[in-house]
Amino acid sequence: MNNIVKGKKLDFSIADVNEVYEGPVGVLWEILMGEQIHVGGDKQTDIMAKKAGVNKNTSVLDVCSALGGPARHLAKKFGCRVTGLDATKKMVDEATKRTEKEGLAHLVTYKLGNALDMPFKAGSFDVVWGQDAWCYVTDKGRLINEARRVLKPGGIIAFTDWVQAGNMTDREWEDLNSFMAFPYMETIDGYEQLLKQAGFAIIEKEDMTPDFAKYCHIYQDRVRDELKSAIISQYGAEMFKAADNGLALWVKAADEGKAGWGRMIGRKV
Ligand SMILES: C[S@@+](CC[C@H](N)C(=O)[O-])C[C@H]1O[C@@H](n2cnc3c(N)ncnc32)[C@H](O)[C@@H]1O
Repeated sequence: MNNIVKGKKLDFSIADVNEVYEGPVGVLWEILMGEQIHVGGDKQTDIMAKKAGVNKNTSVLDVCSALGGPARHLAKKFGCRVTGLDATKKMVDEATKRTEKEGLAHLVTYKLGNALDMPFKAGSFDVVWGQDAWCYVTDKGRLINEARRVLKPGGIIAFTDWVQAGNMTDREWEDLNSFMAFPYMETIDGYEQLLKQAGFAIIEKEDMTPDFAKYCHIYQDRVRDELKSAIISQYGAEMFKAADNGLALWVKAADEGKAGWGRMIGRKV
């Protein structure tokens, strides 16, 4: 059994992340979830923005910004400035194009770079933001230290992520993480520890695992019903089978409370 052992990681790198998000799998995520590629879409973005105190005077750094869906939504709804950071050029280019098309380039910009070595000066942002993406990052402690460095004094870190919520067999751990190209998933308690070690006061620690399971079923039903023929005609039967098998693993782990989802909010002290 893997008793949520710290330190175990799969050997995924930025090159592997790039392969996912430059290729058909990245496109499939958008087909499944929309251009906000995270569980719960704009509703979740709004909930976290309110909790993080985002308003028109806030400068937000969205770490792992992908297509920029959340960045544009935040700018439109709250009038804030948003910088998106992402390690995949295709995502940064596409996000920039969509942002210009929507006339939001005065509020939202993007930068190509690694969350582990953020290309920003210390004390640049009011809020460091992340939605369902830090599971791809190999060293979450370093990511959180970087977040603290680029935050202004008293700044807020706010993120949701896919987490390990219960004990998994080694086989389950390998299969779940490798299907997604995650080096590993943090636990909610692990995130709390990393935040405290980096110098954040915890404002919120929320386990949303039961909701995660509901969403996993919604995504599985969409793939099996609405999207099946489109996926097969565009990407082939093998791709459909791989996606369906992988999702089935995740649905099972979510139903059993082994794979989950959480929200963390902290203040730089
Ligand atoms: C699930 S998507 C993010 C979704 C986005 N947060 C949203 O809500 O729409 C994952 C993104 O993380 C990016 N990524 C993964 N590891 C990264 C890293 N170390 N540094 C920067 N970006 C990374 C990928 O390129 C990809 O665009």
